[in-house]
Parts: sequence; C-alpha cells; structure tokens
Amino acid sequence: MKTADRAACADPILNEDWHVVADLASVPPGARFATKLLGVPLILDRAPDGTLAIHRRDDGATVVSRERYGFAWACLGEPRRDILDIPEALETDRHLVTGGSVGVAVSGLRTVENFLDMGHFPFVHTGWLGEEPHTEVEPYIVEITEADEVLATECRFFQPVASPNASGGIMVDYIYKVVRPYTVLLYKTNPLETDRKDVIVLFVQPVDEENCVAHPFLCYLRTGMEAATVRWFMQLIFGQDKPILENQYPKRLPLDPRAETPIRADASSVYYRRWLRDRNVTYGAIPARA
Ligand SMILES: [Fe+2]
Repeated sequence: MKTADRAACADPILNEDWHVVADLASVPPGARFATKLLGVPLILDRAPDGTLAIHRRDDGATVVSRERYGFAWACLGEPRRDILDIPEALETDRHLVTGGSVGVAVSGLRTVENFLDMGHFPFVHTGWLGEEPHTEVEPYIVEITEADEVLATECRFFQPVASPNASGGIMVDYIYKVVRPYTVLLYKTNPLETDRKDVIVLFVQPVDEENCVAHPFLCYLRTGMEAATVRWFMQLIFGQDKPILENQYPKRLPLDPRAETPIRADASSVYYRRWLRDRNVTYGAIPARA
C-alpha cells in the first residue's frame, strides 16, 4: 500500500504537503511526543543527538519528516512541494521566534480565516490591536496571485498598541497572504523602521477536522525588541482569539457561498473560501453543495 492511500484525509493537496507538527523547543533531544495530523496519530522521537524521526501510531509506518524554522514537519504522503520558503527568516537583523503552539478546538481553516479578519480587532483585542470608535475596516484589495496565493493589500487599521515597541496608537499597514490552505502570513508595519515589515507566519496543524494547533512563527526586526517580548505579545493576542474561535459554530468552515453573509470588510474571507472551494479542499470544511 502506498503511503498516501493510508491517509485519513481525502484531499491530496493536504496529504502531499508539509505540515508543522511540533515546536522543537518542546521536544528536546531524547524526548518523545505524541500528536495527530489530519486525523492520523503520530509519534515524534528525537534521538539524544537531536535527530528527528516520526512514525504513525496506527500502523507503525515511518512518516517523512524535516526540521525547519525551529519546527518539526511531517508529510503523510509523497511531498508534492517543498516547505514554505520565508526569505525574511534569512535576514540577520530579525528575531526568529516560535510563538508558542496553541491547541484550538475548531477547524484550522476557521483559524486561518480569523487571522485574516481585521474587523474583530477592536472587540477581541481591545486596547491592543484596535479600540472603539476606530471600528471601520477601510476597503482593501484582494486578489489571487500568479503563484496561486490569496493576497490582501492596502489593509489599514488604527491600532493602540500595534507592537510591543509601539508608543501610542498608529495606523498600521497590513499585507495578508494565504499560501497554503492551512498557512497564512501577515506583513505588518514596524513602528521604528517604517519602511520594513515584521512578519508573522501562522502554520496551522490540522489535528482533525474540528481541532487544530496554531504554530506562530515570528520574524520581527530586532530594533528595540527582545525575543521574549515578541513571544509574549503573540501569546497575549492569540490567547484572546482562542475562546472566540472555540465558540464558532459550526466548527468546520462552511464553503457554500450562501452559508454566511459576507460584508465588504470580509473580502479576504470571501476570496479564501472561494480559493479553498476551487482547490477541492474539504478537510476541516463543510463543502459547498453542487
Ligand atoms: Fe485576533
């Protein structure tokens, strides 16, 4: 039996891709760690020399694995493409920080969609990423790029504390990019080096269809910033999102265009759902009826 045939998930685009399955900081050399990917129970073993091996708990088969950006990666089938390339991770004046993996009892697609949504800032991240009366999401541009990504540009939002090193509220420029069904990037104005951007990548591990682990990877400019502060800020913000996400119903993301009424501010969400539909992503979704 080929590896891909054993996968619990019917979507080749997911079975044949790499997914983060652990922050290596939480699996030190000599340790063993159990997790799940796309419904498949996995065991991660790190030898005393740090070498990583991953196998399935159901049939013992070896799973292809890699280490990159401080994470353990697994692919249940034959990898169709490489792990995402992040050029900013090679820039030496940035902190590269894993932001603390957080389990969330909701579909990972919901977690990606929530990450794209600026409308919730004043209400969920009150006093940090937004505050009343600055609640309006100004029109922005969304497109599908030649590289087959969902790209949202010219996103602007007023934020009281956009970043740990921000002093006072500023209008923040955002660029969002969904590069894989469960991976989204955010480029955000740095308050001190305004011509450069901090980068937050959210690698979402689909544990099963209604549970995920969000693994943030932060590439923040070092100027005026400590790595620990970067991690603390991400954990603060994501801790505010988690209960909101876990209250979403249904837990899977509806892809039927009639399922939820979009408003203009949700343009990126509308594109994201359409993009998932067009790529036959069903795992973690409620597929559109024909
Ligand atoms: Fe949020």
